[in-house]
Amino acid sequence: MNRRLGILISGRGSNLQAIIDAIAAGRLEATIGVVLSNRPGAAGLERARAAGIEAVCVDPSPSASRHEYDAALVRELQARRIDLVCLAGFMRLLGPTFIDAFPHRILNIHPSLLPAFPGLHAQRQAIEHGVRISGATVHLVDADLDAGPIVLQAAVPVLADDTEETLAARILAEEHRIYPEAIGIVLGGGWSIAGRRFVRS
Ligand code: GRF
Repeated sequence: MNRRLGILISGRGSNLQAIIDAIAAGRLEATIGVVLSNRPGAAGLERARAAGIEAVCVDPSPSASRHEYDAALVRELQARRIDLVCLAGFMRLLGPTFIDAFPHRILNIHPSLLPAFPGLHAQRQAIEHGVRISGATVHLVDADLDAGPIVLQAAVPVLADDTEETLAARILAEEHRIYPEAIGIVLGGGWSIAGRRFVRS
């Protein structure tokens, strides 16, 4: 069965593009039902439209509470019968209204080997900490920031002369590889959650 993805972005959308490309190449069996952004200028909205995918900006009004904004996102996704939500550079915290609407059906990608370096500027954090290896993580989203069960990770060396930009670029190449793969694993079923572990049977 072809499952429907809802992809949430805030910016350039290169992970969105990797998912579009994986579907087009037959490496991922899924349909992108909608792309949502919290920023009207997000370049990823144009990438989606160029691929014939509906792309909608849900602009947070300054007076909207987190609950109200989350509820607006949930409405957009449920109206399009979305099975799995993929956060791809979505720079807004989601609260229980959103997370409880899609239990174990929200994925996120983060540019470090979690649980190291959650939050913003993960690549800069890795360089400043002096780790020799960093990477990328795809995980299920729960109530805590960058903390849910881990589906896939890829390791990336940190080189002596790396800047935040060069390390980010090397990690991004791995993000583009593992995000479509992780989506395929989650859609494929045959997994469960044991404690905080994502276990494939
Ligand atoms: C990626 O590095 C992702 O890991 C992080 O935000 C960035 C989004 O990049 N969550 P893009 O918009 O997919 O190009």
